[in-house]
Amino acid sequence: MNMRTRVGIVGAGPAGLLLSLLLSREGIDSIVLESRSREEVESTIRAGVLEQGTVDLMTEMGLGERMKREGSVHHGIELRFDGYGHRIHLYELTNGRAITLYPQHEVLKDCIAARLAQGGHILFNVKDVELFDVSSRQPLLRCAHEHMQVELQCDFIAGCDGFHGVSRLSIPEAMQHVFTRSYPFGWLGILMQAPPSTNELIYAYHERGFALVSTRSPELQRLYIQCDPDDDIARWSDAMILEELQVRLVTRDNWQLLVGPIIQKSILAMRSFVIEPMQYGRLFLAGDAAHIVPPTGAKGLNLAVADVRHLSLALTVFYQENRTDLLEAYSTTCLRRVWRAEHFSWWMTSMLHRFPDDDAFGQRMQRAQLDYTVGSRAAATSLAENYVGLPY
Ligand code: FAD
Ligand code: DHB
Repeated sequence: MNMRTRVGIVGAGPAGLLLSLLLSREGIDSIVLESRSREEVESTIRAGVLEQGTVDLMTEMGLGERMKREGSVHHGIELRFDGYGHRIHLYELTNGRAITLYPQHEVLKDCIAARLAQGGHILFNVKDVELFDVSSRQPLLRCAHEHMQVELQCDFIAGCDGFHGVSRLSIPEAMQHVFTRSYPFGWLGILMQAPPSTNELIYAYHERGFALVSTRSPELQRLYIQCDPDDDIARWSDAMILEELQVRLVTRDNWQLLVGPIIQKSILAMRSFVIEPMQYGRLFLAGDAAHIVPPTGAKGLNLAVADVRHLSLALTVFYQENRTDLLEAYSTTCLRRVWRAEHFSWWMTSMLHRFPDDDAFGQRMQRAQLDYTVGSRAAATSLAENYVGLPY
């Protein structure tokens, strides 16, 4: 089957789906190729924290109705260490900005429904996606879909296929610079059937390691604990996980974690990764395909959204005004925000985790940084403005 579109998009994650919607708003057609099923895309548990700018964009695009109803707006977060909690007043420190807790898979459900309602094409369950001629004016995507060979002629290809995708591999090695850092710990994440233990997120620093309390709904909590990145999840019984959470979250005024059945658990590795540049010929990478941050700063999804904002604008001025300047500047424009988020995520991670080989000096440095962050308005403001998201 031969098809043609202006922008061929690989991956139906937040980057790919939002890009297709942003482009369609400007009358630019696109086709999304996704290797997983719609059910899988719509049920995989990942991010939860949306920056103010992400929320504003979704609202402006008419995607905000359910988010407004079911999401919850948070005006602060807590940093907890040494048995005390310290509130960072996001709202007050950023002139009225906030974050919204609304799960990534709910964002994806809303985007898929909106795109299909427009008559847009998303091909799920595709196999063996390959990119050809990305440095020419006629790049091509090939894949298998429902026992058919699909050939998709495009003007541009957007590589929105996440960290393990194929698009990035089309950039010749000699043209790319890769920057990476892996961390000597991972996160064990769980979903627990219990009402929220807290109204706001808690980021806890403890000698046994980091812990994070988040929520998904009035009946479901999302919790994370720092663990060995090579740990086997089968080794962690529910009782061990709860015990670790309770120890790490203990306060001097006897705060209690509300507990219930654990219905999902998994371990994720933590890394920082950036590829420069994020473009080659007529291939443009966006989101996790181009950069990964450790999850501590809650930036991954939000960065993906920022990338496709720039990309859709650059493509729009190309088609409407025949201008190539924004496309040429795409990588440079995105990388400024990417590196800011890389720094913030690395900084939050370094401040809040226990490093296996850290000595007493390193731990005192972390404590000094935590004390300063909660004790100084200037330092708290720096955390707050990064956390809610810097202006585009
Ligand atoms: P992805 O979501 O990875 O989407 C890529 C899509 O491409 C996938 O659907 C995949 O199936 C598809 N694909 C891959 N390869 C191919 C191929 N060869 N052919 C076709 N399709 C392909 N970020 C935040 O901002 N806030 C948070 O609170 C937060 N918490 C997180 C918690 C966890 C536990 C994890 C794991 C991540 C978290 N993140 C968070 C990060 C966030 O989930 C990612 O940054 C985000 O999903 C990136 O979106 P994306 O569209 O770039 O990539
Ligand atoms: C969640 C994930 C994060 O990485 C984070 O920093 C805060 C919350 C979450 O899944 O809810």
